[in-house]
Amino acid sequence: MITDKMYDLYWCLKIIETRTGDIILPYIQQYDSIPLDKPAEKVAIVSRWIRTEWRPFFKELRELRPVFPTPAFTLVTRYRDVVEVLSRPEVFSVRLYAPKMDPVVDGPFMLARDETSTNWVEKSIMRTMLVPADLPLVRQLAGKIADESLDRHAREGRIEVVRELGRLVPIRICGDYFGFPGPNLETMYRWSRATQSDMFKNLANEPVVHEASVRAGEEMRTYLSELLKKRRERDDRKGAHGTSATDCTEGPSQTGDIFERLIRTEFALEIPFDDTRIIANMAGLLIGAGETTSQAIVQICEQILRRPEVLEPALVAARSGDDTQFDAIVWEALRFNPINPLLFRICERPTEIASSTDHAAVIPAGTVVFACTSSAMFDETAYPNPEEFNAQRPRDLNLHFGYGHHLCLGNLLGGVMVPEVVKRVLLRPQVHLLPGDEGKIDYQNGPFPERFVIAFG
Ligand code: HEM
Repeated sequence: MITDKMYDLYWCLKIIETRTGDIILPYIQQYDSIPLDKPAEKVAIVSRWIRTEWRPFFKELRELRPVFPTPAFTLVTRYRDVVEVLSRPEVFSVRLYAPKMDPVVDGPFMLARDETSTNWVEKSIMRTMLVPADLPLVRQLAGKIADESLDRHAREGRIEVVRELGRLVPIRICGDYFGFPGPNLETMYRWSRATQSDMFKNLANEPVVHEASVRAGEEMRTYLSELLKKRRERDDRKGAHGTSATDCTEGPSQTGDIFERLIRTEFALEIPFDDTRIIANMAGLLIGAGETTSQAIVQICEQILRRPEVLEPALVAARSGDDTQFDAIVWEALRFNPINPLLFRICERPTEIASSTDHAAVIPAGTVVFACTSSAMFDETAYPNPEEFNAQRPRDLNLHFGYGHHLCLGNLLGGVMVPEVVKRVLLRPQVHLLPGDEGKIDYQNGPFPERFVIAFG
């Protein structure tokens, strides 16, 4: 993984060489030098750069070849063009998600359907259930779970953040607020990780990864069907509207958890939302919330802790209760190591993007398009001086939760859970990174953070 220092050095060298008139094109030049009859090599090198050197690689593409076709996919790297791709679901569709998601939830899921009744109806219903009025209590709950975990590790003076905070908090929220506690934490971690790995990180379509996800889906649906039956029976005993939050959940809401709300809501016959759809969407809550939240918490903690000049104002904001300022620091930190380098779409028909610019390009039908959100958040037309850590940037520009038609269903929830957990971590006395490699996030060659130990107290 490229470090900030290596990155700065790379660009210093590039500037020096540029000034002497000898412009080096390390990435594009290397790519172009691979013969056309070796497409697999071209794809492999680009995939490696996206994984390990995305910042300088994307910077070069934004400057020199903003729409970058490879034999397997086309990269779109400038802010305006990324937003264009994500704003045109009729042309740049999410069809590729369907074979991954449908078998897991046993039917269609909103993220694998564009401009359909499934997406329209189900996203609307789920948004109705996740009422913004719950947010302060969800934030409090996330903070409480984080503090309890930090307290349990206070004696040792260190905590492994991935398991004990990153994964723990969203999974406990899934139980306490969504009403989907699962049989135990281990199984919930496995279901969440297996499904996320296949749906969002398995671009090579490895069958083993897909099979593990489908199995997790089957287990989840069996568990949720039994839970649904039990909760209906309990409701019947109490009378349909007799339950309250304290009857069924430790969660924050006074009107029951999300599962409870879905069970109690009666839909007109014209609105297709039966028990199988309740189960599919409950599974979707775990799939959406688990690893995404974990990855964000872990990567933000690391980004802030390695910058003393950011940690200090973060602590001032945290201690004075200024959540607006604190959260702005958190989301700016995620920009330097976002949870996804890109979102992928498939082009449904030949389409010109970036029309009327000097890099307008026609994308052929059937092209897999990578909307490089991580690159867009370093595009200086949207983020002036993008290399500078600047928490005063307008937050609504950020693409951490996607953009447009498939904007994250949980953006408001993630928007409170993540910063609150980070805050509880930073508020621990003398919190710091361990020296050397011990203090880095360990991805264990996979797509998610697996281990990250920090010290405090
Ligand atoms: C920090 C936490 C999170 C991040 C960074 C995140 C990120 C994202 C992104 C980037 C997308 C768009 C995918 C695409 O366009 O291809 C998305 C969609 C989605 N997310 Fe999240 N997510 C987070 C938390 C959550 C939570 C807590 C939930 C559950 C409530 C959730 C549920 C969903 C769902 C259901 C979609 C699909 C929406 C649609 O198709 O319209 N996410 N998320």
